[in-house]
Amino acid sequence: PDNYAVFGHPISHSKSPRIHRLFAEQTAQNLSYVAEDVPADKFKASAEHFFQNGGKGLNCTVPLKELAWQYADCLTERARLGKAVNTLAKQSDGLILGDNTDGIGLVNDLTVNHHIELHASRILILGAGGATRGILAPILEHRPSQITIANRTLDKAETIVHEFADLGTLSSSDYPSLGHQLFDLIINATSASLSGQLPPLPPGLLAPNGCCYDLAYGNQPTAFVHWGIAQQARKSLDGLGMLVEQAAEAFYLWRGVRPETQEVIALLNEERG
Ligand code: ATR
Repeated sequence: PDNYAVFGHPISHSKSPRIHRLFAEQTAQNLSYVAEDVPADKFKASAEHFFQNGGKGLNCTVPLKELAWQYADCLTERARLGKAVNTLAKQSDGLILGDNTDGIGLVNDLTVNHHIELHASRILILGAGGATRGILAPILEHRPSQITIANRTLDKAETIVHEFADLGTLSSSDYPSLGHQLFDLIINATSASLSGQLPPLPPGLLAPNGCCYDLAYGNQPTAFVHWGIAQQARKSLDGLGMLVEQAAEAFYLWRGVRPETQEVIALLNEERG
């Protein structure tokens, strides 16, 4: 079989091996996919070893996405803009292509699976780190009317707004200044969820029928998913669907076959009870 892997640190709870094995079974592709615990200081040597020993493709997760971006020989446009890579693919010429499928994974989960309209909508993104960079370009392709990026550290949001200014209407904000604005979709791209915390959000930000989406996920609803429910969101979703959708895009890049995602999302949802 062809060899694939996900590198990250920590990695033991990764659902990627399960997802890719389900895809392989469904599409009758002969491949192996394993998870490897790789800390940042071992990334380069581990990736080199993997590809020199016949590895075909790698997923990279926290804290390796920026390193994978540096490692790639060439980049897709969305990966170049995001300055982060979650998928590496060995091409027929031997060069390693870096892609970022996180943003398209999020967009597919929002628009295809949940019928949430991005075009002409007012979107608030919380956080100004790598996760925000990774999702912006695919969201902007849908021409929302406005994207506001809110962050505790305002200058990080300003830097991102500047970097993506050519692609659409963006603005930056700190949390207190968000009051009295309304958004149709609020996306949590902070790392706060991972520690059960919530950004300091003023109440009343969500427009009637608005939706909330947390890029993070867990076996229990995240603090931000609970916040969305309390704000009467039409939908308050976590990032499990995005996880499966970004995996499907990586699988497609590697194998040229598009797996069916909805049955895999349903199965993973059942498994977390
Ligand atoms: P990632 O690659 O996951 O985006 P990162 O680059 O470390 O990780 O960025 C983490 C983001 O989460 C930052 O925007 C951070 O805000 P600051 O830039 O002000 O530090 C945000 N963040 C983390 N914990 C947070 C919290 N408890 N409340 C609000 N924002 C938080």
